[in-house]
Amino acid sequence: MLDEAGRRLATAPAGTRIDLRLGELDSLPISTDEVDGAVAGMVLHHLPDPSSALREMYRIVRPGGAAVVVELCPHREDWLREALGDRHLGLDPGDVVAAFRREGFEQVQLSELEDRYQPTPPGGGPPANLSLFTVRGHVPVASP
Ligand SMILES: C[S@@+](CC[C@H](N)C(=O)[O-])C[C@H]1O[C@@H](n2cnc3c(N)ncnc32)[C@H](O)[C@@H]1O
Repeated sequence: MLDEAGRRLATAPAGTRIDLRLGELDSLPISTDEVDGAVAGMVLHHLPDPSSALREMYRIVRPGGAAVVVELCPHREDWLREALGDRHLGLDPGDVVAAFRREGFEQVQLSELEDRYQPTPPGGGPPANLSLFTVRGHVPVASP
C-alpha cells in the first residue's frame, strides 16, 4: 500500500506535504495531537480489537480535530477471512458509534453510504455486494 501510495504521490502538485509512515494501528508512529484529522478506511474489521485503533486516533488528533471511519456493515461473506484477512465480518454501526464515544469523541455522527464494496471470491463466482457506513467524531477542545 505504501509503495503504491508513493507511486501515485510522485505526481502530486509541488508543495504538497505528505509523509508516509509504516506502523500498527494500535501503536501509530505519530505524536500526540500531531494531526488535524485521521481517517481509517476499511481497516478496523482487520483488527482483533477495533477500539484500539480509535484510541490511537483520539490520541494523535489535536483538540478540535476530527476522526472518520469507513466500515463494512455486518455481512456473511466468510471467505473474506481467509482471502483478505478480515477478522470481523463487518462491524455493527451502533457498536462503532459507542466505541467512538467511549474513547472520548464528541459530536459523533453515523451515516450510511450509497457506495458498495464488491470484492470477487478468489475462485471466481459473483462478487459480494456489501453495504458501507461512516462514523465521524471530534476531539473536544479543552475547557479554559
Ligand atoms: C482493505 S485495506 C484498506 C486500505 C485503504 N485504507 C483503503 O481504503 O483503500 C486494509 C489495510 O489495512 C492494513 N492493516 C491491517 N491490519 C493492520 C494493522 N494492525 N495495522 C496497520 N495496518 C493494518 C492492511 O495492510 C491493508 O493495507
